[in-house]
Amino acid sequence: MTDFPKEFLWGGATAANQLEGAYLEDGKGLSIADALPGGPKRFEIAYNPEFNWEINLEKYTYPNHEGIDYYHRFKEDIKLFSEMGFKCYRFSIAWSRIFPKGDELEPNEKGLVFYDQVIDECLKYNIEPVITISHYEMPLNLVTTYGGWKNRKLIKFYEKYARVVLERYASRVKYWMTFNEINSALHFSVMSQGLVTSNGSEEKKNIYQAWHNQFVAGAKVVKIAHELRSDIQIGCMVLYATMYAYDANPVNQVARLKENQEFNQFCTDVQVRGKYPSYTNSLLQKYGFTLDDLDIQADDLQVLENNPVDYIGFSYYMSTAIDETNEEAETANGNLVGGVKNPFLEASDWGWQIDPTGLRIALNEMYGRYQKPLFVVENGLGAYDKLDENNYVNDTYRIDYLRKHIKAIREALNDGVNVMGYTPWGCIDLVSASTGQMSKRYGFIYVDKNDDGTGSFNRYKKESFNWYKKVITSNGKDLD
Ligand code: BG6
Repeated sequence: MTDFPKEFLWGGATAANQLEGAYLEDGKGLSIADALPGGPKRFEIAYNPEFNWEINLEKYTYPNHEGIDYYHRFKEDIKLFSEMGFKCYRFSIAWSRIFPKGDELEPNEKGLVFYDQVIDECLKYNIEPVITISHYEMPLNLVTTYGGWKNRKLIKFYEKYARVVLERYASRVKYWMTFNEINSALHFSVMSQGLVTSNGSEEKKNIYQAWHNQFVAGAKVVKIAHELRSDIQIGCMVLYATMYAYDANPVNQVARLKENQEFNQFCTDVQVRGKYPSYTNSLLQKYGFTLDDLDIQADDLQVLENNPVDYIGFSYYMSTAIDETNEEAETANGNLVGGVKNPFLEASDWGWQIDPTGLRIALNEMYGRYQKPLFVVENGLGAYDKLDENNYVNDTYRIDYLRKHIKAIREALNDGVNVMGYTPWGCIDLVSASTGQMSKRYGFIYVDKNDDGTGSFNRYKKESFNWYKKVITSNGKDLD
């Protein structure tokens, strides 16, 4: 069995809006995440046609406002990451700390200073920062005033923001990603495109227009990055959900083929190959339009072609099964990417179907298609953890999940796939993106904060903390 490469980037991943808190401190503006209520009904509320992004503190809780108070505790947290031996740390920059409304002419210096400090703290421990430029946290004003990513004006705003952060940090930061889980908009456009029912999420044309704008914006930023630093690595980032046809019925095989193209391949095809794939119009026609109906301007296609990404970052949590032949088939409850229940798999407490082999398949599928380095920048088990009387969590279930997924990466390495690194999601407990809960925990580090907002914010190492440290020290050899 192939060993993990010596330079393999072991680490962990977080996003600004889910852990920083301090949502209005030092000039930060509101982001979309600040206006999403906490709790499992978060998306249901957001997609209600009446939803207008107004914060209603009497009716709802807003866990992102406080996060886990990382804004004031990042030094303590990064120290803990270094204790585990992290080689890298993936985090995002809150766009609304740098441009509070998204459309200002000048950036907010205090926001920039904060990330100066975060980066320097990482470098102090030889932890390589890996930065997501936009992770589900666009300035709220870009949605309420401009209608979200379907508006072409966002290309300029994003380009300006990205230029500012790249110019400031690129000499210290080699690894970047343009947009988190860009493809997730097919099933939930609120987080990455700022589109909900009230501003057009029901119309697939808006989703595709928003994607086009994001593709162009991302490509322009790839260009800026490459001009600033020749060895910079800037990737795209997708939510990859390995797909199976439910059975050998050709009808299900074709359904799988089409669903896989649209969800798993479309965005990556454009961002990696630099052009719209040949199947594009066949996808769009089912919604009643073609590429010609989108607002694609003169040099857009050239910009895409000239500026493909350097690597593919992706999250992997679950696989899904496609069955078009049985209307009664049980759906995979909680699976955000749809599909039916796979009888061969178990699911997490939130219904996400656990499938380590699916990760090996994902890695092989993508590498076979693109031959670009792959970076597993999210993976993990959201679970209810119980802190015992010694302030300890014996999270053997999480270790078991991670161990199996790391084995799957090793198998993919053995299959010949080029994998750059592994950054499990929520390396410290944080607010869940889809349900706005604290109780859905992923971390190696427990944070004493509850769904109702109570808690001391104290940090405690879980059993998985010690285990992951051993994994990193042995460069993936010791997984016991
Ligand atoms: C990914 C996102 O979808 O999955 C993260 O990039 C998110 O922001 C993670 O937190 C886990 O999802 P959830 O809904 O359990 O937080």
